[in-house]
Amino acid sequence: MKISRNTSLKSYNTFGIDVKAKSLISVNSIDELITVLKNNYYKDLFILGGGSNMLLTKDIDMNVVHIDIKGIEVIRETEDFVFVKANAGENWHQFVLYTLEQNWGGLENLSLIPGNVGTSPIQNIGAYGVELKDHFVSCNAIDIQSLEVVHFTAEECEFEYRNSIFKHKVKGKFIITSVVFKLKKTNHKLLTNYGAINEAIMDMGIINPGIRDVSNAVIKIRQQKLPDPKELGNSGSFFKNPVITTQEFEVLKMNFPEVPNYLVGNDSVKIPAGWLIDKAGLKGYREGDAGVHKNQALVLVNYGEATGEDILHLAKKVQGEILKKFQIKLEPEVNII
Ligand code: FAD
Ligand code: EPU
Repeated sequence: MKISRNTSLKSYNTFGIDVKAKSLISVNSIDELITVLKNNYYKDLFILGGGSNMLLTKDIDMNVVHIDIKGIEVIRETEDFVFVKANAGENWHQFVLYTLEQNWGGLENLSLIPGNVGTSPIQNIGAYGVELKDHFVSCNAIDIQSLEVVHFTAEECEFEYRNSIFKHKVKGKFIITSVVFKLKKTNHKLLTNYGAINEAIMDMGIINPGIRDVSNAVIKIRQQKLPDPKELGNSGSFFKNPVITTQEFEVLKMNFPEVPNYLVGNDSVKIPAGWLIDKAGLKGYREGDAGVHKNQALVLVNYGEATGEDILHLAKKVQGEILKKFQIKLEPEVNII
């Protein structure tokens, strides 16, 4: 266990926001985590994974517990499937690469998403037509108050688009310590129709793609589209893509016939927030060091010295403009602290 006091969190969040933590405690095992929980009043704890889905707007006058518990283990195998458990502190992308090296299929479309395995169920991470829930079996989490280990099945997690029980009913009450995935060992089913995956595979000159080719294609597309947090602070999509009713969509389409849209169920339509922000003329807009990314309007960026408040001010401006122009309320995807 590593403990440091009055520590800057700049290198612990991908926005690169320079705020301080009362203390930063890095835990490498469940035993260390339990020790910390026993010694700290539960309201005085703040949980940190890879820091890639948070906007820190002020110093954290709490004990920041950095979950750094590593380990990957096969817990069951059948002829066609493997059930693999990864501990919460494993880096998500490294874990995906590990599964692909074993020729286990399922997570390839989720390549290069930053953050840790333990955080992946919280917003049911998703990209390129796949969501975590498609391969999730269960997770273990520690109840911060009782210190009991609780097992959550996929159904109990109540997964939805960028949402789960950990974002509403039991928010802040559990620390996820491990996740179990069900992955395919044979006859991989490739999902290449989403976005430019097929095109990227063709560009690479591949005729019979496998799961690693799909991963490479996704990596290539993501590197072209999204800013690398090591070069430009950001937290990925700042807002969720809004879902509106088909009636609201008909009105929107009358005014903006070219609006991209995806039907969700029978009576809802998802609209890309990046398109709305772009259409509102805010792509590349900048207020000091806080900006709307010049290539992907859904990503807010820190050009260097922006504070969390600066980014939040910009986010509110974006929300205001979108409401005014399209009568659509954008909801943040990023956790604002
Ligand atoms: P953190 O930012 O550390 O934490 C997020 C929240 O979870 C915080 O409230 C924290 O307190 C809490 N938390 C952290 N760990 C635990 C735990 N073990 N138990 C309980 N609570 C915990 N997301 C997508 O879904 N799809 C994408 O394509 C995608 N692309 C991205 C691209 C970029 C460039 C970036 C920067 C981000 C992107 N994201 C994407 C968002 C982000 O990668 C995911 O949300 C990721 O799962 C966050 O993981 P983390 O460990 O960094 O979480
Ligand atoms: N668009 C614009 N202008 C922009 C940005 C996008 O017109 O500046 C349009 C695109 O042309 C396209 C549509 O919006 O028609 C969608 O854009 P894109 O394919 O880039 O995807 P997105 O909706 O912006 C979502 C996720 C991403 C995920 C990608 C790929 C959300 C909030 N975001 O982005 O997740 O990687 O799809 O599946 O659902 C994240 O959650 O942090 C994240 C990056």
